[in-house]
Amino acid sequence: MIASTPAAAADVALVAEIERLRRDLNAVILAHFYQEPAIQDLADHVGDSLFLAQRAAATAAEVIVFAGVHFMAETAKILNPDKQVLVPDLTAGCSLADGCPADQFATWLAGYPDHKVVTYINCSAATKALSDIICTSSNAVRVVESFPAGQPLVFAPDRFLGRWVAEQTGRDLVLWHGSCEVHEVFSAIRLEELREAHPEAVVAAHPECPEVILDQADHVGSTSSILAFARRTPAREIIVVTEPGILHQMQKENPGKVLIPAPGADETCSCNLCPYMRKNTLAKLAACMRERRPEVLVAPDLAARALAPLQRMLALG
Ligand code: 13P
Ligand code: SF4
Repeated sequence: MIASTPAAAADVALVAEIERLRRDLNAVILAHFYQEPAIQDLADHVGDSLFLAQRAAATAAEVIVFAGVHFMAETAKILNPDKQVLVPDLTAGCSLADGCPADQFATWLAGYPDHKVVTYINCSAATKALSDIICTSSNAVRVVESFPAGQPLVFAPDRFLGRWVAEQTGRDLVLWHGSCEVHEVFSAIRLEELREAHPEAVVAAHPECPEVILDQADHVGSTSSILAFARRTPAREIIVVTEPGILHQMQKENPGKVLIPAPGADETCSCNLCPYMRKNTLAKLAACMRERRPEVLVAPDLAARALAPLQRMLALG
């Protein structure tokens, strides 16, 4: 069983300071499921990337503090150009976003002039601005199905998510060749061994994983859909194939279940931890609120161009 780590005694003062600053700044704290437990526990909203974008779009707070990665906070800024968006660490990137630079994406898209462009939210504002509509792993199938059957589509930047969406929808998607450096290193062989060692366990996997992993899964879906699956499955043991930060909420919601994080291919490293998400710490969270920096900024003309495809996604519900 995975035990949730309570905030250490040394963190209590930091938590008290963050709570005071949240009131003083009229701030809302948004945290992704891959954040460390102490950050998840003090956030106003914890969720997947779709839920957090929806909360950012709806917030009345004056300041948004985003404990996640850069593209998530940047999305919050695009949706709230007049609000201050603070992040614990401005260098918390994402291999999917980094692997799809807007200039290369524009050149590639020129080869598909008749295609509509569906882009995963894990990308920069400049890449969003080249897109017709944004999706997340929660709504990618619905977004693709919102186009008429004969409409040619490109899907970027995650080729594994794109392949899975193509399979789910029966659509022939042209895929950008990107991947998540965390989800692509789960080992199919080690997952097979884990299933043999736990024959009663069910497997839940994120669609950023390669096909050889998803083929072994009882459930494939976004972080929030994996949590929903964990709540409803009668199985007592669940093998979880995504970033293990999600185990904190999952164990809180399912205290009687045994959660088994899937290993990466290399036994000697913690490659299933997202190195970008894990840059955020309680101390950096307190510091960004105390100093009101680092702040995420997006040039107004770029923000306006990135907003339209985001709004099309949010309008789908
Ligand atoms: P979710 O939308 O499922 O939260 O995924 C975000 C992400 O970055 C997964 O690696
Ligand atoms: Fe990006 Fe992968 Fe980290 Fe998610 S887990 S933020 S997709 S690098």
